[in-house]
Amino acid sequence: MRRFARTLAGCVALGVLTASCSGTSADTSSATSTPIVASSTTTASTSVPSTSTVIESGEYSAGAAGIGDIYYPSLGNGGYDVSAYDLDLEYSANGSVSSSITIDARATENLSSFNLDFSGWEIERLTVNGEPTAFQRSVDELIIGPVEIPAGEVFAVAMDYRGVPAPKESDATPFPIGWFSGPSGEQFVVAEPDAAHSWFPANDHPLDKAVFSFAVTVPDGFSAAANGDLVDVVEHPTTSTFYWVMASPMAPYLATVVISRDLEISDDPVASVAAGIPIRNMLPPDLTTQQLAALESTGEMVQVLESAFGPYPFDQYGIAVVGGFPGALENQTLSVFGRAMVDAPYFEYVLVHELAHQWFGDAVSVGQWSDIWLNEGFATYAELLWVEDRHGSSAYREEIASRMEAARIAQYGPPGTPSPNDLFDSSVYQRGAFVLVALRDEVGDDLFFETMRTYVDRYTNGNVTTDDFIAVAEEISGNDLTRLFDVWLFGEQLPA
Ligand code: TRP
Ligand code: ZN
Repeated sequence: MRRFARTLAGCVALGVLTASCSGTSADTSSATSTPIVASSTTTASTSVPSTSTVIESGEYSAGAAGIGDIYYPSLGNGGYDVSAYDLDLEYSANGSVSSSITIDARATENLSSFNLDFSGWEIERLTVNGEPTAFQRSVDELIIGPVEIPAGEVFAVAMDYRGVPAPKESDATPFPIGWFSGPSGEQFVVAEPDAAHSWFPANDHPLDKAVFSFAVTVPDGFSAAANGDLVDVVEHPTTSTFYWVMASPMAPYLATVVISRDLEISDDPVASVAAGIPIRNMLPPDLTTQQLAALESTGEMVQVLESAFGPYPFDQYGIAVVGGFPGALENQTLSVFGRAMVDAPYFEYVLVHELAHQWFGDAVSVGQWSDIWLNEGFATYAELLWVEDRHGSSAYREEIASRMEAARIAQYGPPGTPSPNDLFDSSVYQRGAFVLVALRDEVGDDLFFETMRTYVDRYTNGNVTTDDFIAVAEEISGNDLTRLFDVWLFGEQLPA
């Protein structure tokens, strides 16, 4: 259909960089990975992987250096569960940042030492329960100990550190990710999947979600946003501190700060009324009427997605628009959009895509990065729902047909087994969405949307595997859907 980009395929969020937006270049990255046997190690009720059992007595040993991710074995750590990150950042206009963090955690084993993920920066002070504690650094691991923390005990790690933040190479993405400095001096963080620990020490895996608070001090004339609610702004002689609180559990990779001299934080009254929650954006002054109108439709997007997936999972939403980055990322309650995405003809679709990630990715998080289609395929499917809502069911069909055609030409591989070094390739997005198209066609609208709502409701604030989704789909429909998922999710060839 003419009014949509021929294919939004892979354009969303990462596509500009991976060149699949043109619809001409096939992304033929070969998936070297083996199919994942999804183990049900994760549940909605706890963010502690069930592999770490609380040992009440006995020996003390080192917490594991990884949480058990099959694709990224050194991400996250074992032996404890973080409940809160309290981050205090002071940004100077010369680019340097001075930080203090307190991490509240609970041991799940008797710990003689434990790791945090952390890279870069200079550590000035580190304490555990207020006691200065030895540490070693090795690449992306911060090894803290000796300590003697019994299983079940709550402990606090505090650390002061400083440096000049910079993006970091990632195995998962074709470009560095993390803390960026934009062309107008704006600072912003886009860290999926493995760069949270390039700006704060973390148990950097979605299996360990925690609440966050941020105190961001900036020179006069700057403003600062982060996830959640702006609860206070305190002015000092030459600086101001912006206090933000993210009260719902959040995976560390979704934490962000945006600091800028030019962007203004303001509520969109029309979108907020329609959404039923504050929609507050951090925008440059020069957006066009059309771009502002698309932003205003965020409220209706919330309505459309709520009727498909159930209630919006957080208390607020908005986007920040930054320069110098050609992608968009669904940071919890504050998606960050590179200006190129806002200027693109498909801006509206990126908006609905990132909004849908608040359900799929943020509220309901993967337990293994290899299951990334549960985020990207679902957010891409939401674009199709928006097409259907705005333009009707034949437009929905046409859009699917044109994307299928593009997917066939590009020979996308199976979305259930993405390449670990190209986690966000177009096959995950487009073929991932086709899995849901096929499921809806198979079970019908009522059971399909009931499946989506049950899945969200059951796993909000928790983690999922592909098997968890399949189980909900089979439970709601009463059908054995093995073949459907084998073909659409794991089949080498796109079905005819
Ligand atoms: N999840 C993003 C999306 O909406 C894509 C993405 C992954 C990304 N890693 C990123 C974007 C890092 C910006 C920076 O599709
Ligand atoms: Zn996405």
